[in-house]
Amino acid sequence: MESHQTQTARIAVLISGFGSNLQAILDACNAGQLPARVVVVVSNRKDAYGLVRAERAGIPAVYFPLKPYLQDGRGRRQYDADLAELVAGYSPDWIALAGWMHVLSNAFLQRFPGRVINLHPALPGQFPGTDAIARAYQAFREGRITQTGVMIHFVPDEGVDCGPVIVSETVPIYPDDTLEALEERVHAVEHRLYVEALRRLIAGEIPPCR
Ligand code: GAR
Repeated sequence: MESHQTQTARIAVLISGFGSNLQAILDACNAGQLPARVVVVVSNRKDAYGLVRAERAGIPAVYFPLKPYLQDGRGRRQYDADLAELVAGYSPDWIALAGWMHVLSNAFLQRFPGRVINLHPALPGQFPGTDAIARAYQAFREGRITQTGVMIHFVPDEGVDCGPVIVSETVPIYPDDTLEALEERVHAVEHRLYVEALRRLIAGEIPPCR
């Protein structure tokens, strides 16, 4: 993990669900748009379709649940420490949280300083937490915002959906939008922007987050 500019960067992707952003990253690697390969996919949910995507791509797909840790008293920090150990075993250059629905503590983050990045389907500082697109849609209908967006950011600490921005882009909301139409537009931007963020990081175009 010495250089940020390896020839073929190693990416660990953490997911909790459908894995469409994982798929965008896999497709970009396969198409030669990203000088990288996904070395492991970890999900905290067993039924995450992203695990199927990983298996189909021949990538180690690991289900790593939090529940046993909560049930036997080891707790969230031990889960995060063990998760870090698992991920570190694949020697990733970057850890990409792609729809990963678990706030990581320093027990995980300190293991990979400046190497963990996250997707948030809203503009910087807006709608942290779950259901950001639906909350933006509601805010638009109430006249509180005129547009939304997507950001990819470093995860330097335990804050939720915040940290130095790598790339962000606005997404328009139209008066006749349904929530589904807005979600579709936001997801399309997510997929493009996540690949762009990784490309810039791997190329060393983004100053490291210390
Ligand atoms: C993403 O579309 C993103 O909007 C949302 O989870 C979805 C996962 O989709 N939320 C977050 O990422 C919160 N950080 P995917 O599993 O199809 O990539």
